[in-house]
Amino acid sequence: MANKTPLTITVRRMDYDIPTIPRYWFDNNPWITHFMNALSTTFPDGERFFIHAVRNFEQDIKDPVLRAQIRAFIGQEANHGKEHEAFNQALIDQHQLPLTNKIQFMKNALAYAKKRYSKRHQLALTVGFEHFTAILADQMLKNPAAIEKLNAMYSDMFLWHAVEETEHKAVAFDVYQEVDGSYLLRVQAMLEATFFFLLLSFRMQHSLLKHDGKLGDWRSALGFAKFLLVSPGILTRIIPQYLDFYRPNFHPWQHDNRHLITGRVKALESNALRAMEAA
Ligand SMILES: [Fe+2]
Ligand SMILES: [Fe+2]
Repeated sequence: MANKTPLTITVRRMDYDIPTIPRYWFDNNPWITHFMNALSTTFPDGERFFIHAVRNFEQDIKDPVLRAQIRAFIGQEANHGKEHEAFNQALIDQHQLPLTNKIQFMKNALAYAKKRYSKRHQLALTVGFEHFTAILADQMLKNPAAIEKLNAMYSDMFLWHAVEETEHKAVAFDVYQEVDGSYLLRVQAMLEATFFFLLLSFRMQHSLLKHDGKLGDWRSALGFAKFLLVSPGILTRIIPQYLDFYRPNFHPWQHDNRHLITGRVKALESNALRAMEAA
C-alpha cells in the first residue's frame, strides 16, 4: 500500500475567463511564449487520449480506491482539456495564430496511434506522458516565481493544471501495474513518449516562430535557453526524476511532493472564488 496515491484526488471546475492575451505573454519572449503555446496546443487532444487509454482498462480494476481515482483522473483531465482549448482558441481569435492545423494534426496522429498501438501499449505511452507532465508540474510548483509574475489568469491556469497533474500522477501507472506491469514495455513506451514529446513541442514552437518571423531573434532564443537550462532550468532539473522512471521498482510517489500543493490549492481556490464574485 505504501506505493499507492497518498492523497485525495479532487476534481475542480475552474471556468477561467480568458483576458486579452499579449502576443508574447511569457516575459515578452517569443521563444518561451511559443514553447508554452505549443504545450497548450498538445494538451486537449493528448489528455483525451490519456482518458481513452485508462478507460480501456477501467472494467478490469477491482480495487474500489483505484476505481475512484480513475474517475477523478478522467474528471481532471477533461477539465484541463476544456480550459486549454479555450486558451488555444483565444490565441487563434486574438492573434490569428495558426494553431488550427496543429490541433488537426494532433487529432489525426492520435487517431492513428489508437489504431496502430495495442490497448496495453496506449496505456504504457500514457504512463510515460503522465510522468513527463508530473515532473514538469513539479518544477513549476517548485519554482513558481517564473509563472506567478504573469497575468493572474494564465498563471493560475498553469499552476492549477500542475497541482492536478501532481495529484493524479500515479493513476495511469497504478492501472498499468494492475493490468500488465511489463517493465520492458514501460521502458520502450517511455522512450517513444520522450521522442514524441520533444518532437511535437519543439516542431510546433519552431513553426510558430517561423510564422512570426522570430526564428532569428537571438536575444529571445538565449532567454529560452536560460529558461530551459539554467533558471528555472525546467529541462535540466527534470533529468534526475526522468531517469528514475527507468528503475524497475519505480513508482511516481517515490517523489513525494505533496507539500508543494497543499497551500497552492487554497490560494487557487480563493482566487477562483474572488473572480466569480467579481464577475
Ligand atoms: Fe492534465
Ligand atoms: Fe495527467
